[in-house]
Amino acid sequence: MFDEQFEKRADEILARYPRRESAVMPLLHLVQEREGYVSLAAERWVAEKTGVSPAHVHGVVTFYTMFRTERHGKYVLHFCTTVSCMLRGVDHLLAHAKEKLGIEVGETTPDGLFTILTVECLGSCGTAPVVQVNDDYYEDMDIERLDALLDALAAGKEPPFPPGPGPRRVLVEGD
Ligand code: FES
Repeated sequence: MFDEQFEKRADEILARYPRRESAVMPLLHLVQEREGYVSLAAERWVAEKTGVSPAHVHGVVTFYTMFRTERHGKYVLHFCTTVSCMLRGVDHLLAHAKEKLGIEVGETTPDGLFTILTVECLGSCGTAPVVQVNDDYYEDMDIERLDALLDALAAGKEPPFPPGPGPRRVLVEGD
C-alpha cells in the first residue's frame, strides 16, 4: 500500500522493538504524518506489520484523540473542554474560533487550512485553557493569543510565540 521508502522507514521502526506489537502506535504516527489521517486500509497495514488484529489497531486509533480517522485541515485545533479548561474560559475561545473561521466543531474551513475539534483533558490542566494545534500545546490561551496564532498560521507564518505555557503562568523557583 505504501512505497518502498516508506516501508523501509516502517521496518526501521519495527526493528527497534523486541515485540512487533509494541510498534503499533509509532507506525500509526508514521502513517498519520504522511497521510494526515489513518484510514481503515492503513489500520490493516499496521495490523499486518505488527501481527495484531485489525480490530485492536482500530481500537487504538479510535481511543486516542491524537489519531485522526478522516482527512482534516492543515492545522487541527483541539480545544480541551474538560473542567480546568472550562473554568478558565475555553468556551469563549471555542466560540471565538468558530466565529472567526466560520465553521463548527468537526468542520474544516473551505481553504483546507483549519479544522476545529473538541477533546477531553490534554493533561496540562495547570496551564489551562489549552489549545492543541496539530502536535503542539498552546497553554494559558486567551482571545488575543488565539487571534495572533490563527492569523499567523493563516498567513503562512511561524506562530508568534512558541508552544507551551503563556505569559500568565507564574514561575516559581525550581519550576
Ligand atoms: Fe484541559 Fe486538563 S482540563 S488540560
